[in-house]
Amino acid sequence: MTRTVPDRLATFPFPFRADTFRYSTNVEAARVVVATEAGEWGSGILHLDGDYAAEVAERARVLERDPTRLQMLPHMRPASWDALLTMLRELEAQHPEQMRLTGSGRELVWRNDVLGVEHRFTEGDDDSVPGGPLGFLGSQIQDDVVLLDQREGSLWADAGNVTFAADWSMGFDTGMRFLEIHGPVPRVHEEGILPRAERFLMRLPPGAEYRRLNWTLGVDRRLDHATEVYPEWAPARRHIATAPAAEVGRRVHLRVELQHLVRLGASGAILFLIRTYLVSLEELAQVPAWRERLGRVLAELPADMADYKGLSRFRHRAADWCLSGT
Ligand code: HEM
Repeated sequence: MTRTVPDRLATFPFPFRADTFRYSTNVEAARVVVATEAGEWGSGILHLDGDYAAEVAERARVLERDPTRLQMLPHMRPASWDALLTMLRELEAQHPEQMRLTGSGRELVWRNDVLGVEHRFTEGDDDSVPGGPLGFLGSQIQDDVVLLDQREGSLWADAGNVTFAADWSMGFDTGMRFLEIHGPVPRVHEEGILPRAERFLMRLPPGAEYRRLNWTLGVDRRLDHATEVYPEWAPARRHIATAPAAEVGRRVHLRVELQHLVRLGASGAILFLIRTYLVSLEELAQVPAWRERLGRVLAELPADMADYKGLSRFRHRAADWCLSGT
């Protein structure tokens, strides 16, 4: 495409490949570039953009207010260190000019010139990194993180640093099985989608890297939609249902999660990364094909799926905006 588009659109993982949306075990290999109408996404596991510094600062604010967003059951310490070191090496590989992990043995130094961080630490010593291994990891990447342990024929979400959850709670889900966590999701159990996904994940060999997309709508550029702060974000959803068109276009955002699934080599845990992208309907409308497709998907979305996503009150309002500008 020849005209310039804003960065947020150029790397936005627009999630719809048709005018209707249904759940599926939509998992594909990671690191495969996807060309879109506005640019491309997907070349790496991690993606830093113009919102990097602001988003890690926002994560720090959320954690300060509510430390329960960061969880680590004691047996997950080795996996948490594995996740930290694997992702710091990934950052270094993607940004060799600005990021570097050096040192010898367990004594390491992390340097991140984008954020102005230089930190010496001892691998395995939680007190040597701010917030412990997952706290420190969350301060260097835009993604939320969940770590799953595999035992007794199941995956267990036993650690995580999740400050930008879309209407769920890391504190509540810690220690739960993969299938229990997905208990509230409609359709996926009857259709066998989740048991299939769990079996797939449990068979992943060390180093395997996959990804999937998930989406919903939100109101305003707000990342933290955790259950814990429901009263802070839910009223805007009610308000927007009857708001004038200009407000709908400015405030309703398509919220897309690019999720990566990585089998860590040293610990054998599954690392689940959730990178949340937000674009307003107004921004999205700069790509007319996206505006139209989103409008059609929202208009057709079955009621049980819209209910589960918390969109019942305002998805038709958003669909109308996309399809007729009203
Ligand atoms: C191939 C793997 C996976 C598939 C196919 C899958 C599928 C889904 C689907 C369809 C939803 C509903 C999303 C929506 O409509 O907004 C969902 C929600 C969710 N998923 Fe997954 N998921 C996968 C991996 C994971 C992993 C590894 C975790 C880590 C614990 C996870 C945690 C969640 C949570 C916390 C929710 C929200 C549940 C709630 O409403 O409380 N998912 N997932």
